[in-house]
Order: sequence, then C-alpha cells, then structure tokens
Amino acid sequence: EEAEKSGYENYMLKEIHEQPKSLRDAIAGRLNELTGEVVMPELTLTKADIDDIKRIVIVACGTSYHAGLIGKYAIESMTDIPVSVEIGSEFRYSANRLGHETLVIALSQSGETADTIAAVKGSIKKGARVLAITNVVGSTVSREANYSIYMRCGPEIGVAATKTFTSQIVIMYMVALYLGTMKGMLGAEQNIRMVAELKALPNKVQRLLENERYIMGLASLFRNAGQFFFVGRNLNYPIALEGALKLKEISYIISEGYAAGELKHGPLALITTNIPVIAIATQCATYHKMVSNIKEIKARDASVIAIASESDGLIDQLVDFVVRIPDSNEYIAPILSTIVLQLFAYYIAVFRGCPVDKPRNLAKSVTVE
Ligand code: G6P
Repeated sequence: EEAEKSGYENYMLKEIHEQPKSLRDAIAGRLNELTGEVVMPELTLTKADIDDIKRIVIVACGTSYHAGLIGKYAIESMTDIPVSVEIGSEFRYSANRLGHETLVIALSQSGETADTIAAVKGSIKKGARVLAITNVVGSTVSREANYSIYMRCGPEIGVAATKTFTSQIVIMYMVALYLGTMKGMLGAEQNIRMVAELKALPNKVQRLLENERYIMGLASLFRNAGQFFFVGRNLNYPIALEGALKLKEISYIISEGYAAGELKHGPLALITTNIPVIAIATQCATYHKMVSNIKEIKARDASVIAIASESDGLIDQLVDFVVRIPDSNEYIAPILSTIVLQLFAYYIAVFRGCPVDKPRNLAKSVTVE
C-alpha cells in the first residue's frame, strides 16, 4: 500500500497531485487544436441524432452531481438544448416525461452507484438515450448506457472524489463543445480558443500546486472553525457546493455552499465574526456582483478568504486572505478553484487528525439505494 501512495501521506493527497496528469489524459487525442474540434469516436451520436435531442437530463450523486451542475451551464451556453440536473435518488420522483428526444447523461466515477444505475435503467425503459461518463471501464452504468465516455483517471482510492471531479468537468466541456459544434452554434474561433484553454489547463494546475504551502497555512489558521460558508455565482456556484462537500466529508466541519446572490434570502442572518466565508471571485461576467456580495459579508465582520485570479488588483483591499489562481477563462477558472478547495479541505482534515482517505460513515461507492 505504501508503494501505491508513491511517497504521499495518503491517497487523497496523491490524487490531488495527479491532476495535471489526469487532466492531460482526459483530453489526450480528444481535441484538435487547429480546428477547435472535439474528436470522440466513442460519442457515436450523428448530426441527425443530435438534432433530435430536445432536452438533456443529467443525473448523478454526490460530487458527480456538482460536475453535472457545471455541465448544465456549459451545455446551455454552447447549444440551444435545455438541461436539467437531477440527484440520482430523486430522479424517480420527478414527473420526467422521458422519451427518444431526451438525452440522459449519467455521471458516475464508479459507474456502480445504485441510485444512478436505477435512473439509467428507468430512462432506457422509457425510451431515452443514455450517455454514461464514468471512470471504471465496464462498470454497470457504462454497460447499460447507449454511449459511454471514460475519464481515464486511473483508480481513485480516497473516498472523497478529487481528480475524477475535475476530469468530469473537462469531459462535460468537451461534450458541450461537441454538441454545440454539431448544431452549428459555435464559431470556429470560439472553439479554437476553448480548446487552447483546455490544453493549457494541466500546466496551470501544476503551477497552482506550487502554492500548496500557502493553502496549508490558511488551513492551519482556520482549523478550529466550527462552520464555514462557501459562496460563488454562475459556474462558481457548483464549485462552492463542492468545496463545502469536501470539507464536510473529510473534516466533519459543518459547511454550507451557497449561490452568492441567495445570501440575502436567509444565510446573511447567520454571518457573524465567527463564520469564515470562502468566496470564489475569479474573473468572469459576475465578478462585480461577487465583489458586492463580499462587501455585504465583510459588513457583518466575517473573515473572508477569496479565491481570485492572479491579475486581480482589487480583491486584496476587500478581504482578509486571497488565494491566487492562474488567469483563465470562465470555464477553466472553476477547475483551478476546485483544486484550491480540495487542498484546503485536505489540510484542515489533517490538522484535525481526521482519517482523510476513509472518512467515518462514508463509502467510495454507494451500491445500496
Ligand atoms: C459516494 C462517494 C462520493 C461520490 C458519490 C457518487 O458518496 O463518497 O465521493 O461523489 O458516491 O459516486 P459516483 O461513483 O457515482 O460518482
């Protein structure tokens, strides 16, 4: 087992550090830099098939559900297809009228999560087509589905998902690009730019990981906090949810992820000096709105840690601590912010003496409904 950890303290830290490679593998051979096209022979949907799709339902559990929420933003902005995202265990209760015009995307690292399998089987029965995105070749979800894309992350042993989450996001982007291109909704220039951003991602992750000590220092400073809030807007909202989930899972700290614009509808009542808030405030269309939210939070004297872009010259004056990520477009920045939050949760858990790879009461793959 020690050999498998390649010198790391535990699997989770190893898997966080594997992300430059797992992301490189996720895109290898699947993107054409010159034309901006996605090359995914496993996605055998023809142009006619895609034109038939009237809506997409993404179904997933846990961390995979958060990747699904990101997928919704990406697909809806790159195509004209409406997307809904459903939690596996709730899927059966929705009055979903699934048929041939529905594409169900089942996101599951293991491909063995009982609720996701049930949703896939139910969808096929109703005549929908299912695209599986999993990490385990030959898993139940991929066998049941009509189309299947693999994440190529290699085994993920830590119970809390890390490298598979970032690969799921990248694959969702590639699916969105593929659908958008087939539907003629994306200009070549837009595609080429996005492909270049995706290709540059692994090196940016590498650079970000060099910041680890600073994140470790922050974790040490906040290790005794009783609660945390994570806030973000747009694509950064699912990342806030995921940051909160990571912290809950491995450090047992009560943490809430919130859409920053919703704070005023309730959670602001909870914000006091004792609750640190992590604000994902990278450069994107909603940046200035995030700045306003941060000011509202600071007015209640909470400590704010912001995750911000390298070139942001404003944020330092507004918050208590800033973690910088390499400048990127609005799709790539959330992936980099995620890795900051993975490290933050990891080190808090380590400082609190928690068993990071095997948190209490949790399983890597939940095979019961
Ligand atoms: C369990 C794991 C989570 C994972 C979820 C969904 O709860 O502890 O890390 O996100 O299952 O798993 P899946 O394999 O379907 O992605």
